[in-house]
Amino acid sequence: MAHLFNRNILLGVSGGIAAYKSAELVRELQERGAQVRVIMTRGAQEFITPLTLQALSGHPVHTELLDERAELGMGHIELARWADLLLIAPATADLVARLSTGRADDLLSTVALATAAPVMLAPAMNQQMWKDQATAANISTLAERGVHIVGPAAGLQACGDVGPGRMEAPSAIVDAAGNLFATGELAGKRIVITAGPTREALDPVRYISNNSSGKMGYALAQAAVDAGAITTLVSGPVNLPAPRHTRVMDVHSAEEMLEQCLSLLPECDIFIACAAVADYRPAATEDHKIKKGPEAVTLQLVRTPDIVATVAAQAQKPFTVGFAAETNDVLAYARDKMQRKGLDMIVANDVADQSIGFNSDENAVTVLWPEGQQVLQRANKSTIARQILHLVAQHYR
Ligand code: C5P
Repeated sequence: MAHLFNRNILLGVSGGIAAYKSAELVRELQERGAQVRVIMTRGAQEFITPLTLQALSGHPVHTELLDERAELGMGHIELARWADLLLIAPATADLVARLSTGRADDLLSTVALATAAPVMLAPAMNQQMWKDQATAANISTLAERGVHIVGPAAGLQACGDVGPGRMEAPSAIVDAAGNLFATGELAGKRIVITAGPTREALDPVRYISNNSSGKMGYALAQAAVDAGAITTLVSGPVNLPAPRHTRVMDVHSAEEMLEQCLSLLPECDIFIACAAVADYRPAATEDHKIKKGPEAVTLQLVRTPDIVATVAAQAQKPFTVGFAAETNDVLAYARDKMQRKGLDMIVANDVADQSIGFNSDENAVTVLWPEGQQVLQRANKSTIARQILHLVAQHYR
């Protein structure tokens, strides 16, 4: 049974009789580990109240596009970015038609356009409406664009008809959502990912470090597991739970991180260096706590080893991916860094924009490889991680 642990599912409910099953859907998504937020169309609110879905999801239900108060909290663009998956169940014939033409005339259709996350629909309508050529054409347009369609199931309908058009059972929809994340693209591949900051000790209680939260590296580990990889995280000190099915090796300093990575290399097909490794460490680490003394002291620092460059220089080199956080000429510096460090791929991050990257839940990056590059639009880190792993799977040989 595919899990949805750590996944943000944005559930869109449109106005059909099957909307009453959305309550069960919220429950099942949560039971598989997902965080759920709900958008309801006007029509949906005729069938089930926002209060029901608010109580079950634990969050206010979003209903209006132009709602000043909602936009002050989590506005439509934030919702679109928050989602790992936009799941629309039930999806009525009207909503399917609006999505197929790219309309943005209510909150749900607007978020569907604004999200970089995958979109999944569970259509529900009268069997004749489902069979109509207009609906069939709309569904195939959406499928061609990569929208995932679940169901509909066939059987007795609320209107008394018998045929295809019933919304698929919530458990089948949740299964389909879980399977979407389990791509299997890197099945059996061994991936080592560095994450978080390093700490370079001055004495037993003090150190030099940085603000890296480790979120990007941990999201990459989760995406690697979902792609079927045997995943190891070499992690500096962070405040994050270990992703499921991941082996986590805790380290502190850059030297420890390097040592751990080198020891894992004989069993590593793909190496991703996401850690914010300290560039310098104190030249000496005191055995005892340094006493307060003179008004000013000088600290001598020496370079730490470059972990990713050392890995890329090995005779048995794994497919090696690095990160480049830059504030200007981002792509030129990243491409230069990729060549200099002998990398197969580099993920460039513009850190001049403080709302993404370090410590944030979101990121926007450009992935570069020797013959090309691809922009990954701003989205939450698990969506970005999944897209990076997809590119790794395409270029790994
Ligand atoms: O040289 P710079 O720190 O900008 O390079 C960033 C990339 O190199 C990241 O992938 C980071 O994880 C890696 N790196 C490393 N060891 C270092 C410094 C950076 O692996 N000592």
